[in-house]
Amino acid sequence: ARITLRQLLDHAAENDYGVPAFNINNMEQALAIMAAADQTDAPVIIQASRGARSYAHDVMLKHMMDAVVEIYPHIPVCVHLDHGNAPQTCMTAIQAGFTSVMMDGSLEADGKTPANWDYNVDVTKTVTDMAHLGGISVEGELGVLGSLETGMGDKEDGHGAEGKLSHDQLLTDPAEAVKFVQETKVDALAIAMGTSHGAYKFTRQPDGEILAMHVIEEIHRRLPATHLVMHGSSSVPQDLQDIINQFGGEMPQTWGVPVEEIQRGIKNGVRKINIDTDNRMAMTGQIRRVLSENPGEFDPRKYLKPAREAMQKLCVERLEAFNTAGQA
Ligand code: G3H
Ligand code: 13P
Ligand code: NA
Ligand code: ZN
Repeated sequence: ARITLRQLLDHAAENDYGVPAFNINNMEQALAIMAAADQTDAPVIIQASRGARSYAHDVMLKHMMDAVVEIYPHIPVCVHLDHGNAPQTCMTAIQAGFTSVMMDGSLEADGKTPANWDYNVDVTKTVTDMAHLGGISVEGELGVLGSLETGMGDKEDGHGAEGKLSHDQLLTDPAEAVKFVQETKVDALAIAMGTSHGAYKFTRQPDGEILAMHVIEEIHRRLPATHLVMHGSSSVPQDLQDIINQFGGEMPQTWGVPVEEIQRGIKNGVRKINIDTDNRMAMTGQIRRVLSENPGEFDPRKYLKPAREAMQKLCVERLEAFNTAGQA
């Protein structure tokens, strides 16, 4: 059944678990997530970005979501807009059947200019006022995602802040978080603490200097009833880097967010954990392997099925690690 983010995260808070939010762009990813949820008896958040909406078309996404709910009626599914950049983007997502939207007002609508306080509150409040009338949940973001090592936003993905950012911008201020939630009435709050989108988050195994989990603890102390969201939460596992590079890929060595740090976050109010890159890597590793082991192969199912299975396995691991398993 379809469920809103608020319903799902309230249940997660009552029962001390976190919920991974996996991105989709196509049928293979949707089916991989649902197979993992079914295998572990877990609720899930399926999210689509603006890029996914233009890649797959809103109508395709809408019917794909209807389809997975029909195929897996016993699995609670929240369909969420990832990184809406303006109120109108959120509104059209709601029209397309999303049960939850993110209004990311941490950047201006261009997706690269860090926004000021008034802008963020204004666009976010516009969306909560409207969405809540229809029972739709809203995620907001305070603080800009980016690297504490380099001060850079995550431009590699084609979105994220441009230019160098200060520590003040890269770390959500706990006192401001309290005010932001009061003023906007968001159902969930994404915070910045040193993670960035994509594979290249850290140049070494992260410690408290470059992955500021203490910020989460402080925000949770002040906002115990607010559901916190960690973006850029792929772990970028070494084995997935290795398989890509073993079969012709050229990914420089990199580090992501360790699963144990996310588990620590879950003990401190983190309820939604955004993961896209790990699944992209899991699929790509298998596609590279199958095509390089079988250069004569041209049936897409021959590489997409192993890709789906690798993504399902990754999703199962996260659903188990975050204690989402068994909560459907
Ligand atoms: O926001 C980051 C997600 O990984 C979505 O990425 O905008 O390339 O679809 P995307
Ligand atoms: P990753 O790139 O770490 O998977 O983060 C995804 C994300 O935050 C989507 O909003
Ligand atoms: Na999101
Ligand atoms: Zn994100």
